[in-house]
Amino acid sequence: MAVKKATIDTLLEEDRIFHPPEEFTQQANIKSREIYAEARANPKIFWAMQAERLDWFRKWDKVLEWNPPFAKWFVNGKLNACYNCIDRHLKTWRKNKAAIIFEGEPGDSRVLTYWDLYREVTRFANILKKLGVQKGDRVAIYMPMIPEAVVAMLACARLGAPHSVVFGGFSSESLRDRILDAQAKVLITADGGWRRGKIVPLKHNADAALAETPCVEKVLVVKRTGQEVSMLDGRDYWYHEMAEETPTGCPCEEVDAEDILFILYTSGTTGKPKGVVHTTGGYLVGTSTTHYMVFDIKDDDVYWCTADIGWITGHSYVVYGPLANGTTVLLYEGAPDWPNPGRFWAIVEKYHVNVFYTAPTAIRAFMKWGDEWPGRYDLSSLRLLGTVGEPINPEAWVWYHKNIGGERCPIVDTWWQTETGMIMITPLPGVTPLKPGSATVPFPGIEVDVVDKDGNSVMLGKGGFLAIKEPWPAMLRTIYGDDQRYVDTYWNKIPGKMLYFAGDGARRDYHNYYWILGRVDDVINVAGHRLSTMEVESALVDHPWVAEAAAIGKSHAIKGQAISVFVTLKAHAFEQLKSGARQRSEFQDELKAHVVKKIGAIARPDDVFFTAELPKTRSGKIMRRLLRDIAEGRALGDTTTLADPAVIAELKRKYESRES
Ligand code: WT7
Repeated sequence: MAVKKATIDTLLEEDRIFHPPEEFTQQANIKSREIYAEARANPKIFWAMQAERLDWFRKWDKVLEWNPPFAKWFVNGKLNACYNCIDRHLKTWRKNKAAIIFEGEPGDSRVLTYWDLYREVTRFANILKKLGVQKGDRVAIYMPMIPEAVVAMLACARLGAPHSVVFGGFSSESLRDRILDAQAKVLITADGGWRRGKIVPLKHNADAALAETPCVEKVLVVKRTGQEVSMLDGRDYWYHEMAEETPTGCPCEEVDAEDILFILYTSGTTGKPKGVVHTTGGYLVGTSTTHYMVFDIKDDDVYWCTADIGWITGHSYVVYGPLANGTTVLLYEGAPDWPNPGRFWAIVEKYHVNVFYTAPTAIRAFMKWGDEWPGRYDLSSLRLLGTVGEPINPEAWVWYHKNIGGERCPIVDTWWQTETGMIMITPLPGVTPLKPGSATVPFPGIEVDVVDKDGNSVMLGKGGFLAIKEPWPAMLRTIYGDDQRYVDTYWNKIPGKMLYFAGDGARRDYHNYYWILGRVDDVINVAGHRLSTMEVESALVDHPWVAEAAAIGKSHAIKGQAISVFVTLKAHAFEQLKSGARQRSEFQDELKAHVVKKIGAIARPDDVFFTAELPKTRSGKIMRRLLRDIAEGRALGDTTTLADPAVIAELKRKYESRES
């Protein structure tokens, strides 16, 4: 029985508790648990107090206006995110403090102080103005992990122009769709970026997208890799050329707390990515507060979050949270295993990194590459570690704790999402005892529950749906241009109750610790990033050979989940496969490459299996759950709703014998 099993699991986990080291607690930003009770007693006062860490041009009239499920935080407050991340630090000793320490993949290095950042950002903002950007205009950013990417985001924020950062690993088609959805007026890109010694041809990819995005009037191109790229007269401009003739110094737009700071696209259960909308005031309060408390940030820390700025982790914990706190942020352009698997640890040693935040998928890769790599470097500067993106398996947690943290660094396992904007479930490293594999407890002021399908709390020890009960400052405000989808996706899943539905399964143990069990919807978590099964399937059926496709996530030792696809070929292609006119591997490689072209390398299926039929319900819905059972080699779950039970039995037999 599920209940019993969960109870046993819980007891097993309870065996390993890591208490905060006393020396850590003594120096911690948060030393006492009282903060939880204080925040719970009056969350609005708690958040209003946290909002004081920002500079406001005008104070808010009201902390929260909640018309479920639409929230307004810090009503009528006026501020500017860029001002909070740069200008205000210039009035303090931090003016000449390192804001960004950059390490390029080829080994080049640059340091920008807060004053340097001010000059770069204001000049960049002036260039954007010349290109016609005004408050409210959307700007797309498709960049490698170089300082100019951060500069571009902050320049947009300075002008009150919402940015939409598109991860540099996404394909031209993904870029095109995101540009069109946001109706971006300007695109900021680079000639390329470095990844494993090769050039990622960003401008080249962007050109393909730009052929179909009439909304884009101007393109600003940063020179990074230096190869020849094509520049369209009157549309494309080199940043370094514009910079020569553009002055620094540019006033900050005063924006409303509820004005959009950015849009960031994320996968949902349907093929169309969702433009998650984050606004300015609440987002900055939420990210700066969590950054300060969860990462225990100190003014002399070198802080390194390895996420790309194309993901929410990069927005919240590379750019806005840390810079609002005046932190020194390390930025690394390339791959963790270039030129060898010791690169990350070489960087930690070189810059004396103190706080390090990465993803379980990376940790599992380091484990595979071997203990000797971290063993070669001096990692004694590290004092705190973090993880995000998916559940961390206890073995990986313990490895990280020992081999990277030298058994002295607490690990903060932080649960959150693109939509939550800020960390939601997490230890506070000076006060929360850790259990490997658990994200522990909700952040102060955050009310979470585990509920059944009717929205009732489930008993401790039992699994259910993770739900958030009260609005929080960095919550998404809507899906760009689609309020109804916002309501339906997050707030209408549990009828009659105003609960935010995260789409994750979870269980709470007898200490009220949360254990995230993974996604409950048709979303695959590959290397800590969400992809919808639908997106992969639409990419496949776009290929002339494919009649129908089903994508699933299959457990993977490093990536957490890898994509497996089941494909039904059209008759002409199927003939070629059967007759041997074309090799099976040729079909597989072609379809994998097609998905990469449509979405990007992150979506490359690991496995393509051909089948004449897919298991469907009587209403024609593909039962991916059964395909998952097959791919994982498990006994088949409930098959009673299948239109034709014979299909699945045959498919299972063939899959196991690897024929199709
Ligand atoms: C999904 C959100 C937020 C940053 C990166 C991913 C999973 C995230 C954890 C964690 C277990 C986690 C969840 C969540 N997830 N952090 N600490 N433990 N699972 O952002 O692409 O919006 O994905 O990532 O399934 O719903 P995202």
